[in-house]
Amino acid sequence: MSEPLLSVLDLSAGYGDVTVLWDVSLHVRQGEMVCIVGSNGAGKTTLLRTISGLVRSRRGSIRFDGRDLTNAAPDAVLSAGVAHVPEGRRLFKGLTVRDNLLLGAYLRRDREAVERDLDRMFELFPILRERAHQDATTMSGGEQQMCAIARGIMSRPKLLMIDELSLGLAPRLVERLSEALVEINREGLTILLVEQDVMAAFELASRAFVIETGRVAMAGATATLSDDPAVRQAYLGL
Ligand SMILES: Nc1ncnc2c1ncn2[C@@H]1O[C@H](COP(=O)(O)OP(=O)(O)O)[C@@H](O)[C@H]1O
Ligand SMILES: [Mg+2]
Repeated sequence: MSEPLLSVLDLSAGYGDVTVLWDVSLHVRQGEMVCIVGSNGAGKTTLLRTISGLVRSRRGSIRFDGRDLTNAAPDAVLSAGVAHVPEGRRLFKGLTVRDNLLLGAYLRRDREAVERDLDRMFELFPILRERAHQDATTMSGGEQQMCAIARGIMSRPKLLMIDELSLGLAPRLVERLSEALVEINREGLTILLVEQDVMAAFELASRAFVIETGRVAMAGATATLSDDPAVRQAYLGL
């Protein structure tokens, strides 16, 4: 089989003297939708931030699309094709929805294609077209999440990483977001999802990595994991 799009191998990382991730290995193949689940504080955000170049790794390696991205700068990771939708959305205050989306494309020079992609995002999330000239941070949490995801896609990534898709959002909005992710995944975009709602994550993703206190505790097909007694008890409340 060909090399996975993303390969994380024996990765350790942390903050100051504190190690948060211990020998984490995971991979994502082209076209997959994979999820990372685990309790609060397990290290999921730190893992995505390390892949993005926002946290330095201490050991191990990150390969993406045939290149070594271990400790590459955030801009280099984005240029290589990794978009990161951060926890808590982090849209730019004082900027319109449209300008937030265009910022996602700031490294691109293909202006006409950027306009076409903008249009595609407005088709995917019609509310963003209605709100195009509104300050993005004045929208509801769900609308801001749509904007943050669309901003990520505007960089034309090969891999879209989303940290906490559904946190704090109404079920109806989560459903809408999930449908959109399924659609863009079907169109070929590879997605790595961090999600606290394990049930929802397992429905969306085909494979999962369970992180416990900074280590990969379990990994496999979501269909298999959701039958695992330990997973059912600890994460599905069954
Ligand atoms: N900027 C930071 N400085 C120091 N410790 C941090 C920082 N961010 C996160 N941590 C610690 O790292 C651990 C993992 O946090 P995080 O990656 O945010 O977990 P998760 O996203 O799974 O909830 C926690 O113990 C947290 O307190
Ligand atoms: Mg987190």
